[in-house]
Formats: sequence, structure tokens, C-alpha cells
Amino acid sequence: MTQRVIPILSPNFINDSVFENPPDWAGIFRNSNPLALEIGCGTGHFILQRARMQPEINFIAIDIYNKGCLKTCAKIDLSGLDNIRVLRVEARWLLARGLQPESLSAVYINCPDPWPKKRHRQRRLVNRNFLATLAHYLKPGGDLYFSTDFDDYAEDVAGQIHDLAGYRNMLATAWTTALTGYPVSKYMQRFLDRGQKIYFIHYQRDMAVSRHNLPIPEVQRGFRIRWQMAEND
Ligand SMILES: C[S@@+](CC[C@H](N)C(=O)[O-])C[C@H]1O[C@@H](n2cnc3c(N)ncnc32)[C@H](O)[C@@H]1O
Repeated sequence: MTQRVIPILSPNFINDSVFENPPDWAGIFRNSNPLALEIGCGTGHFILQRARMQPEINFIAIDIYNKGCLKTCAKIDLSGLDNIRVLRVEARWLLARGLQPESLSAVYINCPDPWPKKRHRQRRLVNRNFLATLAHYLKPGGDLYFSTDFDDYAEDVAGQIHDLAGYRNMLATAWTTALTGYPVSKYMQRFLDRGQKIYFIHYQRDMAVSRHNLPIPEVQRGFRIRWQMAEND
């Protein structure tokens, strides 16, 4: 499906075509505070709340959905918050092109597309390879939060991350259905309103394991936008 692309003129929107490789994030935020990333920010409900709670953190909010980026930017512009920047990029593209290893203090992935049909499950963003990739970009001690309404996706991610070197579980169980103080995203709210559960996973990048001892994951290309354009760079 082709998206109608409305130009985003917000000062909080970063056009990835002007990227240095990777960009100067401290220059973009005008300070060198720790960097956190939300993957698939949708229309920005979660990131606005999180950024308000942690003004000392710089948040990069990404989505491949132009209208979502537009709405997220509109919310940020109204809020007066200066610690969020929005990019319309594919997650794997940003990791490969836009971030240094061990540069993220936290990664948030809320209600990613669940691809519920069995034959589509290989399209899920969060798989073993993606988790292994994130381990390289998280700082030692950095947090990884994953939430989903889909029990099968939670089970899958919990199983994969449990077996991976470089992570440690911050919960007493594989997942929880209540995470105190964690902001509610738009999709989470939608599912909660229907009486459905949200499954949360919280891991940290294990400080005891050096990144150099972790397997180097192969770069998986996003199946939607931007890789084709990057090919021609
Ligand atoms: C189901 S929505 C959830 C939105 C929001 N996180 C929430 O919980 O309300 C999933 C979002 O992830 C975005 N998305 C899907 N695949 C992505 C990818 N590979 N890179 C960046 N964003 C992606 C979609 O465009 C969509 O906005």
C-alpha cells in the first residue's frame, strides 16, 4: 500500500537524508545526555509520557508510518518537550546506519505488528537476530522493554532472549502483565479497554558480557521502506 506522504515541517523531525553516517546525536539534541530509542512510536502517546518522566534522557522515536511521525511531532511541538526527535525510518536501517554500538541506554518496543498468521510470522520485527543486533547497540546495563497483546509473540520473544548471551532478565518471570510506572501506549490502551492482557518483557544488557564476545548478527533488511533507497546511496 502506498502511503500519502505529507511533509513534516516540525523542528523535532529529523530527515534521514541529511544524516551524517551515523549522525551527531549530541549536536541534534544540543546536549550529550544518554540516548534512548522507541521503535514503532505510532502516534507518540508512549514517548511523550516517557520523555516527560525522564527529561535527562534524549529520546529518538522512529516509525515507518508518515502520518504517525506527523502526529507524534505535532504532540511534541505542543508539549514544549525538547528531548524527543522523530525519524521516519525502518528500525534495522537506523541501527545499521544511524547509531554507534553501545550507544543506547534503553530501547522500547511496544505492541509491534504481531503478524498473527503462521505463514507471516517470519515478518515479525523482533526475532532472535534482531534481539542479538540490539545487544550490540545497548550500553552495558541498558534496558530493553518489549510489550505485546499477543501471547504467542511474548512467548516467542521470551524464549529467544532467554537463550541469548548478553542479556539478563530484570523480572522474576519470563514476562509480566503489569509493569509499574510504565506508560500506556495507544495500542496498549486499546487492548486494555477490550479486557485483553498486555505482556511485558524487561531485560538489561548484561554488564558482565563484553560486546566483543557476542556473535555478530547478520544485517536483516527491513521489507518495507528505505533499504531500496539506501542501495542507491
Ligand atoms: C501496532 S503499531 C503500535 C504503535 C505504538 N507502539 C503503540 O503501542 O501504540 C506498530 C507500529 O510500528 C511501526 N513499524 C512496524 N515495523 C516497523 C519497522 N520495521 N521499523 C519502524 N517502525 C515499524 C508501524 O508503522 C506502526 O506504527
